[in-house]
Amino acid sequence: MQIFPPAADTAVRFAVLVLVIAMVGLPLGAWEYLQSTYETQVGWVQDQPVPFSHAHHVGDDGIDCRYCHTSVETSARANLPPTHVCMTCHSQIWTGAPVLEPVRLSMATGEPIRWRRVAQLPDYVYFNHSIHIDRGVACRECHGDVTDMPLMRRAKPFTMQFCLDCHRDPAPALGPRELVTHPQGLGWTEAQKRAHGERVMRKLGIKPDELDNCGVCHR
Ligand code: HEC
Ligand code: HEC
Ligand code: HEC
Ligand code: HEC
Ligand code: HEC
Repeated sequence: MQIFPPAADTAVRFAVLVLVIAMVGLPLGAWEYLQSTYETQVGWVQDQPVPFSHAHHVGDDGIDCRYCHTSVETSARANLPPTHVCMTCHSQIWTGAPVLEPVRLSMATGEPIRWRRVAQLPDYVYFNHSIHIDRGVACRECHGDVTDMPLMRRAKPFTMQFCLDCHRDPAPALGPRELVTHPQGLGWTEAQKRAHGERVMRKLGIKPDELDNCGVCHR
């Protein structure tokens, strides 16, 4: 006995097929998405012992990166600020705030605050801040606009491709040296950036064809 006409049969089969694709496909898609952000960690934040906000301190209060990340111009590492840097202000303002209790405790005991890292490379990759800053590569090229970050998050995928894309064509990333810590930059067009960068490359003798040698980053 035939309950459905043959046409309905095709429709049912099609509906079942769609359902199966949805059931298998959606979780697979979600899994792939998670995998990709899992690998690159872009957009990830970490729970921190103190909810330190770059949006407030840099965006609202206008504190320069170098006030806290003191060695970024002179050495490979940018450094995280020791507790007494926080206390230059927080012994005066927000002195009783419960969120700052771990800061006061760290000051009293001498135990450093243990920040969880969000921007980190594997050990086998060599990176150096000072050379990038010296050439006018701004913090925002690699760390994004931190005035938009109530909690620090990973802005760019620190993959090999990310490094190589710029090393093979650095011109658009070479901005004015005095604006390296500016969180947004000048809002130049791509053409303006490139024209400025090409002048810098000629002046400093930057050679992209040598910047993708393996030994630059794997020493
Ligand atoms: C140059 C002064 C200055 C320094 C240095 C400073 N802060 Fe602040 N902080 C402020 C001001 C001003 C506020 C008031 C909040 C605002 O701007 O909205 C604040 C607010 C806060 C708050 C309250 C939540 C918030 O963001 O509104 C926390 C938590 C905090 N600071 C943590 C720290 C830590 C941790 C350090 C050291 C790494 C630090 N601050 C260094 C000036 C400073
Ligand atoms: C008042 C101090 C202060 C200022 C100013 C400041 N930072 Fe920070 N920064 C911190 C602290 C404290 C941490 C560690 C906690 C966190 O990750 O938010 C940090 C963490 C970071 C990290 C993550 C490092 C990692 O691997 O976990 C980056 C990137 C960073 N800052 C970039 C910047 C840039 C770019 C600027 C300027 C545009 C800036 N910061 C200005 C205090 C500061
Ligand atoms: C060319 C890309 C690039 C630029 C430009 C850059 N950083 Fe970084 N930054 C990185 C990488 C990559 C790491 C991770 C280094 C590691 O784990 O060895 C890092 C790590 C950090 C850290 C964590 C502490 C440390 O030293 O490892 C801070 C803080 C930081 N950067 C702040 C800054 C500030 C402030 C500026 C601008 C003055 C800046 N960075 C410019 C790529 C960059
Ligand atoms: C936005 C552009 C940009 C990005 C992104 C970038 N770099 Fe660079 N890098 C440069 C420039 C420009 C120089 C300086 C080249 C010169 O002066 O010859 C440089 C130089 C270097 C040097 C020093 C080379 C030497 O001869 O001493 C190292 C090491 C380095 N980069 C590693 C990295 C790593 C690792 C990454 C990725 C995590 C990275 N860079 C991402 C632009 C960039
Ligand atoms: C401008 C910097 C830079 C240069 C130049 C560079 N690498 Fe890398 N390399 C990286 C970074 C950053 C990672 C870490 C990637 C990650 O954690 O996802 C990496 C990772 C690797 C890995 C680990 C496996 C992987 O793919 O994640 C190998 C192998 C490697 N690089 C080989 C090379 C070889 C061979 C060359 C020369 C042809 C080279 N690299 C040139 C930055 C660089």
